Amino acid sequence: MYARVNNVRLFYRRRGEGQADSLLLVHGFPLDHRLWSAQLAGLSSGIDVIAPDLPGCGRSEVPRGPYTMEQQADSLVALLDTLRLDRVIVGGLSMGGYIAFAFWRRHAQRVRALILADTRAEPDSPVAQTRRDEAVARIQEQGGEPYARSMLPNLLDSHNLETPVAARASAIMGSQPAQGMIGALQGMRDRADSRPTLATIDVPTLVLVGESDSITPSDTAREMTSAIPGASLAIVPRAGHLSPLENPRAFNAAVRSFLGRIGR
Ligand code: MLT
Repeated sequence: MYARVNNVRLFYRRRGEGQADSLLLVHGFPLDHRLWSAQLAGLSSGIDVIAPDLPGCGRSEVPRGPYTMEQQADSLVALLDTLRLDRVIVGGLSMGGYIAFAFWRRHAQRVRALILADTRAEPDSPVAQTRRDEAVARIQEQGGEPYARSMLPNLLDSHNLETPVAARASAIMGSQPAQGMIGALQGMRDRADSRPTLATIDVPTLVLVGESDSITPSDTAREMTSAIPGASLAIVPRAGHLSPLENPRAFNAAVRSFLGRIGR
């Protein structure tokens, strides 16, 4: 399905439409809604699941970057407006989590609960910012695919390398538009520090992290959980940074249990 929001054509998948609660799932980098295929299939018997391709990703239009986390959050609110959805549960993985923090800061009244997967509140360090610039230069020179493929070994649990999970992740990452990747890298490089945001979160929050996530490790997730009032943490076994794709059964079970706890 497509929707035109803030003058950008966005692709999204939706399953479970018409149910009382909606779950908006925001993918990470360099990914698209296909990160959430197993959540669209596995959670939509209990909740309306919406998984868009962010601007510059997947089948969505590629506007001029950089894409700030705030612009991305505003695009998602415009999508909710188009779908006539008021308050939703916002779930984001990694860059999707950075966007979820911006969403909370700007549109808290639209958030019923938060799911923060394999993400962090800290901004980029100066070293990380330099790496973003180097990545942009590499993509400008070689296109997006070699860079995306070089990321893969760091993203997955070692058990999942050389499996269909790795092939799936590689296919998603290798098909992202180069200009969209550049816009996202520049937006992440300059993103705000979300640590002061954590104490302001007063909706039910679930933090999830793959047990062997080396990009946003479980210690980071633990610290983030303790800084959010009342938040709970679920560790996803046999998963690295792409936990919903690597171990969908455990990921979905943790989300279902959270949804059960927060009720209708
Ligand atoms: C992601 O998975 O979205 C990225 O690893 C986030 C980042 O590069 O900071």
